[in-house]
Amino acid sequence: MMTAPQSVRSANSDELQIGSRTMPSRYFLSPLAGYTHLAFRTAVRELGGLGLATTDLVQATMLLSGRPKSLELIATSPGDHPLSVQIFSGNRDELVRAAQWLEAHGYEGVDLNMGCPMAKVNGQGGGARLLCDADNARDTVAAVVEAVSVPVTVKMRIGWDGEHITAPLLARRFEQVGAAAITLHGRTRQQGFGGSVNFEAIRETVAAVERIPIIGNGDVRTVADARHMQDVTGCAAVAIGRGAMLDPWIFSKLADAERGNETPVEPTAGEQIGFLVRHFTLMCRQHGEYGCTLFRKFAGWYGARLGIPEDLEDRLRRFTSFNEFDDIVSQIHRRHGERKTSVPTALVKVPNGPNERW
Ligand SMILES: Cc1cc2nc3c(=O)[nH]c(=O)nc-3n(C[C@H](O)[C@H](O)[C@H](O)COP(=O)(O)O)c2cc1C
Repeated sequence: MMTAPQSVRSANSDELQIGSRTMPSRYFLSPLAGYTHLAFRTAVRELGGLGLATTDLVQATMLLSGRPKSLELIATSPGDHPLSVQIFSGNRDELVRAAQWLEAHGYEGVDLNMGCPMAKVNGQGGGARLLCDADNARDTVAAVVEAVSVPVTVKMRIGWDGEHITAPLLARRFEQVGAAAITLHGRTRQQGFGGSVNFEAIRETVAAVERIPIIGNGDVRTVADARHMQDVTGCAAVAIGRGAMLDPWIFSKLADAERGNETPVEPTAGEQIGFLVRHFTLMCRQHGEYGCTLFRKFAGWYGARLGIPEDLEDRLRRFTSFNEFDDIVSQIHRRHGERKTSVPTALVKVPNGPNERW
């Protein structure tokens, strides 16, 4: 069962290797299903500072059957690099075949989801449910690692609930069977998205592995938060999800901070509107005018970030054509800042209610 880990620290300690891949930065984009698609990833990459990005979770069976929706989720471009595709399934053989399919189609990395708390994923034995059976989870990782030569990584939570913090044990086992890196959301499945991040559990997981990078994740919104995650846990890299929606410049600010510029430069309103237009343009390049519909879910983010008055944000939530978009943007240029608002994290919808029913 012992296989050499796919990932080692590069001889240059500033560089992070994940398998054969050298990461351009230690700050990664954590997948947010429905948000972190190709258009958003590309627009953020253009701002600089982003290392690895990961696609939304894709169901292995759907991928193998070539469902258009799944193919859309794995859409990429030459500039969208480095990228891993995240797959999930409760069925090991399907994960193996999906990983092989991805390798055969030129994808450079496969990420196995063991963190998703949703009942429809857990009910099939996928996502966070795999945290509950260490042997099964290890054998699953081993089977995928053996089946492909691209790096295989795992994204997981610290455990199923507070009584079962299994991440240190699992990470060690995954390393032994050749996982290249592990992204660790510092919450249990039971916590969902509530409560606070357990930095201690991330630190223990970092200590439990010998060589592979542990990527700390959870509630990083600012440069200071990322530093805190690194300092307290010793993690090799940080994955940022909702923080990147709140502030797409977070990666470039982190890159600046690494270069010694500790005072983050805030984007001007013009730059922020430019980002909105770029994001939209990239979305429409992929989806045509249907991009208008897809873009509407971002209205709340842009509305809050730019202080757009309610009536204008409402138009951004309902528009249907390119012409309408152009008109809204010219209005935003005139009216941004009219509404005084901060950008609450709550804008990214997380499931609520008892999580057994998610
Ligand atoms: C709306 C939403 C969608 C998510 N989709 C995924 C996903 O597809 N795959 C995954 O591994 N994690 C997913 N996550 C979890 C995030 O990647 C991340 O682990 C979590 O939000 C904590 O990090 P953050 O505070 O930086 O957002 C999702 C989270 C949210 C809120």
